[in-house]
Amino acid sequence: MAVYVVTGGAGFIGSNFVRWVVSNTDHRVVVLDKLTYAGHKASLAGLPENRVSLVVGDVCDAELVDKLVADADVVVHFAAESHNDNSLNDPWPFVSTNLIGTYTLLEAVRRHGKRYHHISTDEVYGDLELDDPERFSESTPYNPSSPYSSTKAGSDLLVRAWVRSFGVQATLSNCSNNYGPYQHVEKFIPRQITNLIDGIRPKLYGAGLNVRDWIHVDDHNAAVETIITKGAIGETYLIGADGEQNNKSVVELILTLMGHQADDYEHVNDRPGHDLRYAIDASKLREELGWTPQYTSFRDGLAATIDWYRANEDWWRPMKAATEAKYAKTGQ
Ligand code: NAD
Ligand code: TYD
Repeated sequence: MAVYVVTGGAGFIGSNFVRWVVSNTDHRVVVLDKLTYAGHKASLAGLPENRVSLVVGDVCDAELVDKLVADADVVVHFAAESHNDNSLNDPWPFVSTNLIGTYTLLEAVRRHGKRYHHISTDEVYGDLELDDPERFSESTPYNPSSPYSSTKAGSDLLVRAWVRSFGVQATLSNCSNNYGPYQHVEKFIPRQITNLIDGIRPKLYGAGLNVRDWIHVDDHNAAVETIITKGAIGETYLIGADGEQNNKSVVELILTLMGHQADDYEHVNDRPGHDLRYAIDASKLREELGWTPQYTSFRDGLAATIDWYRANEDWWRPMKAATEAKYAKTGQ
């Protein structure tokens, strides 16, 4: 039994990680989460109180972070400002949480000699051409495009420097686009599902030819636990499940699964600086640590996700109108 401090544990991937840890291990979890617009107590509903507790606070609060890290065995850092579109409208929270928050945690794990796992994204590598035969690997140079991805890239570099300069016991992972339950309706897949429930046509940025490499959130989280238990200190592991799809084909599949004509969507304004394609080569994780994804059918995973949003309107309804009002301002 270990004590995990999970930052951002009331967000999409973090709350699924907490559920995964409760179901698959005997660890106790302390969630540290600021409950921003993206964090919800309801995402942790039903979890046993003797296994999971929630501390509402900021990862930039050095005193609070120090206290929690002192009592932890492992710190798993999910907390971030996570949405590219928001980072274009107001970059400051991204600089604060993603950079200063990571710095604050690193200083605490350094002081207390604790194991740290850093959650990051493949977006730190920039983007690929549609016909590029190469995919991202651990040796791809960093080349981030947006305030979101550049602050995530900076946070990764802080971790690497703290490992090398101070001997911090850290691992890092960079994952591709996640889908599954409890994802905020600002993100691509839940936005289209909940739009269709509301009788609104799905909205594709630009031509819809941008490619994302989709992975189910449970596969991501199983990989994170694998890296925590078996990963080599100082190493970075890319997480991906060979799930490349362009946005148009994802929208067509959602429409079909929800009983609509596959072409019943609309094109809206493109995202400035929109990354064209992400694609991950996860050979290192598969070969060195023996991880394999369990969700082998994107269609089945997506159908289950649609069912979840249909059954859990109470969870997403409170955030829907404000999210769409924000998009209306940029014509998206
Ligand atoms: P999310 O936006 O759904 O959740 C972020 C959580 O962090 C929220 O609960 C929020 O309240 C909390 N938070 C924000 N600022 C905080 C602060 N200053 N102090 C404490 N808590 C704070 O994000 P997500 O999609 O679950 O992403 C989680 C992590 O995974 C991020 O680090 C992100 O970069 C990374 N990631 C996400 C994806 C993806 O597809 N969503 C892919 C790869 C990596
Ligand atoms: P998103 O979920 O924001 O993730 P990311 O920017 O981290 O990849 O978007 C996924 C893709 O979907 C991205 O290419 C932008 C596109 N997109 C749309 O076409 N329509 C939408 O309404 C949204 C939110 C995103």
